[in-house]
Amino acid sequence: MHPLNGHSAIVTGAAQGLGYAIAMAYARAGLRQVLLDVQAQRLHQVAAAVRALGAECLPLVVDLSDAAATGAAVAQGLAQYGPPRVLVHNAALLRERSLLEIDLAGWQMEVNIILQAAFILSQAVWQPMIDAGGGSIVYLSSGSGIKGFLKEVAYCPAKHGQEGLMKVLALEGEPFNIAVNSITPGAPINTPMSASNYPPELKERWIDPERLTPAFVHLAQLSAADGITGQRLNAWELSQQLTGAGPG
Ligand SMILES: NC(=O)c1ccc[n+]([C@@H]2O[C@H](COP(=O)([O-])OP(=O)(O)OC[C@H]3O[C@@H](n4cnc5c(N)ncnc54)[C@H](O)[C@@H]3O)[C@@H](O)[C@H]2O)c1
Repeated sequence: MHPLNGHSAIVTGAAQGLGYAIAMAYARAGLRQVLLDVQAQRLHQVAAAVRALGAECLPLVVDLSDAAATGAAVAQGLAQYGPPRVLVHNAALLRERSLLEIDLAGWQMEVNIILQAAFILSQAVWQPMIDAGGGSIVYLSSGSGIKGFLKEVAYCPAKHGQEGLMKVLALEGEPFNIAVNSITPGAPINTPMSASNYPPELKERWIDPERLTPAFVHLAQLSAADGITGQRLNAWELSQQLTGAGPG
């Protein structure tokens, strides 16, 4: 039996792409999952696929840019499955727009999905994780979390902000055995976000996001005592190490 069997997870952005791959990997590990996404139909299809693997899940349709709705959804998830072993905040929205092309509402939407939701979700699981003796929080990062890119006026500062939140919470979490890390895919991945943003040359070598999931299964088992906290990890490299696979 997998060591994660019977524990629970909260995964955002689970309706497609990398979040879908993580949800399926967690289902195979026997985690009970709260799956959050704004796309109702796709999310319910993912929930059916998770259940077909014999795993439990609670799909919650929520707009993570909405603070009150996000708080209510995570509260419902906690009431259903108790303290999560892992929170993976994977949902994000990237709309390529420069400063003169974006309005305040559009800017806030991207920032709130990425950064505000990271804060709300982490704060909601914090005390339950303390009471449970520890846990693991993971934010999906990006090259946009450490450097600037044209037309990423909202996405890029939000990803930078998530890195800062991760570093502070890693310090706060250490005495409570809560590991807080960010993780970047580390390889081009074939997802709907990539389909609309990658140049053709990247699409020639993109990989199935399923290949990054060993890293997320590993992170679900972490606590601060394992010594991996406050770090910006690379899902491709970590997955390669864990599976002993060669390059490519
Ligand atoms: N695709 C890449 O190459 C790449 C590179 C670096 C980082 N990332 C990060 O990896 C993560 C997953 O990326 P992906 O390529 O699978 O993206 P994706 O766009 O394919 O999937 C993102 C998911 O987030 C959900 N989402 C968006 N807005 C939401 C909202 N308001 N409320 C709730 N859910 C919402 C979407 O419905 C979708 O299911 C993201 O955090 C992204 O920033 C991706």
